[in-house]
Amino acid sequence: MFIVKEIQTAAYLFASILFILSLSGLSSQESAKRGVLYGIVGMIVAIIATVLGQGVEGHIYIIGAIAIASIIGILLARKVEMTAMPQLVAILHSFVGLAAVLVGFGSYLDPATQALTGAEHTIHLVEVFVGIFIGAITFTGSIIAWGKLDGKVPSKPWSFKGLQMMNLILLLVCVALGVLFCNAHGTGGMLYLLIMTAIASFIGVVLVMAIGGGDMPVVVSMLNSYSGWAASAAGFMLGNDLLIVTGALVGSSGAILSMHMCHAMNRSFFSVIFASGGGGSSQGGEKKAIEGEVTALNHEEVATLLKEAKSVVIVPGYGMAVAKAQYPIFDMVQTLRKANKNVRFAIHPVAGRLPGHMNVLLAEANVPYDIVLEMDEINDDMPDTDVVMVIGANDVVNPSAQDDPASSIYGMPVIEAWKAEKVIIMKRSMSAGYSGEDNPLFYKPNSEMLYGDAKASVEKLLGFLKA
Ligand code: TAP
Repeated sequence: MFIVKEIQTAAYLFASILFILSLSGLSSQESAKRGVLYGIVGMIVAIIATVLGQGVEGHIYIIGAIAIASIIGILLARKVEMTAMPQLVAILHSFVGLAAVLVGFGSYLDPATQALTGAEHTIHLVEVFVGIFIGAITFTGSIIAWGKLDGKVPSKPWSFKGLQMMNLILLLVCVALGVLFCNAHGTGGMLYLLIMTAIASFIGVVLVMAIGGGDMPVVVSMLNSYSGWAASAAGFMLGNDLLIVTGALVGSSGAILSMHMCHAMNRSFFSVIFASGGGGSSQGGEKKAIEGEVTALNHEEVATLLKEAKSVVIVPGYGMAVAKAQYPIFDMVQTLRKANKNVRFAIHPVAGRLPGHMNVLLAEANVPYDIVLEMDEINDDMPDTDVVMVIGANDVVNPSAQDDPASSIYGMPVIEAWKAEKVIIMKRSMSAGYSGEDNPLFYKPNSEMLYGDAKASVEKLLGFLKA
């Protein structure tokens, strides 16, 4: 059974509108669920309209593949922990990249495209070449990003002198290969295509390897953008308008998100992407020696401090997600608020491992939005705050971002927890944050460590607060 071209075009238009509504729904927490729903419906319409399109054959295989992939997708999504979500997103980006590479090769070998002539033929070859180039970078770059987010690849930047020059030379080689490829007859350009694919795959690896843990948010959103452009390129190769539009939506929204991330981290987009020696704004040189002594309190002592405090600010980080501490934290917040204390959350734009990671977790625990403030909204209140509780956060409260030019996170705005009267840092050890940088905050005279798993610690504190 086929549907006529006009119906398919109308279905594509309808799906495109749903995708746009989906993106706009995702712009706020209140409308996010609706946004996801629009996306799901749009994708179902898109798949049905494509599979039933004129000229599509082998429906049984397509339906079989969709069924198997859907089962794998559902099982994966149900099993994945919230903390492993960034890795899942990264690996899904790699699939889009791989798909673009495969579509590119398929399209190049397709006898129907071989019959093209003149400008049409050249345009198609450029589409194939550029699509495979973007796809290969997205594929390998996303795999390295997955490794870094999963702790399988060290988060510290891997780089060497001359890296940028090497990348530039490789890029120029790819351009030269592109010219040779477009001038080759029949499928004679296959060798150039294969060499370019190998080079682009290598560029994807080194680009992401060179980026430090602190700058990974930009990389994740950038790969999201690349995966969109790769999909768009595949759309051009397949002559599928909906894929072009959808890819462009993902590509441009990912690019805008990358800009926002860079702005939030005070980074220049290009300095992150073409990082060498750690990227960011690090000016190199000797790191500042950390002065001071680390002191710790027990749970009862911290509970006493909280009972005496009038204003409390909670700074959550990745450790809160790992410990799933958001539920007892909200219990603790309610207990403190009942005792007439001003309790608020301070959210850093790149806390955790996903854009909006902390907001999602706090919303899951039903924390009211009005006490969840962005870093810029609350930083000025720090000097008037009695107790700041840093729960599983590290890089986002690291003062060396402000005062150590040799630090890889130098220049990134941070939550100025140290300006409060007292800072309690809740984590399991003295280990560094995701960027690999030690944190001088732990050594400040007004800082106290409270060691232990964040969830277990908050539950203990609750016990003392309610006693
Ligand atoms: P991190 O710097 O990663 O620090 C998290 C801290 O949580 C660790 O030092 C760890 O110390 C502690 N922790 C882990 N498990 C814990 C548990 N069960 N209980 C208590 N503490 C626990 O986190 P952050 O401050 O949120 O900063 C985020 C970092 O990730 C930034 O560098 C950011 O650039 C990067 N990043 C962000 C994103 C996005 S989009 N948000 C994406 C990729 C990368 P212990 O091991 O001592 O407990």
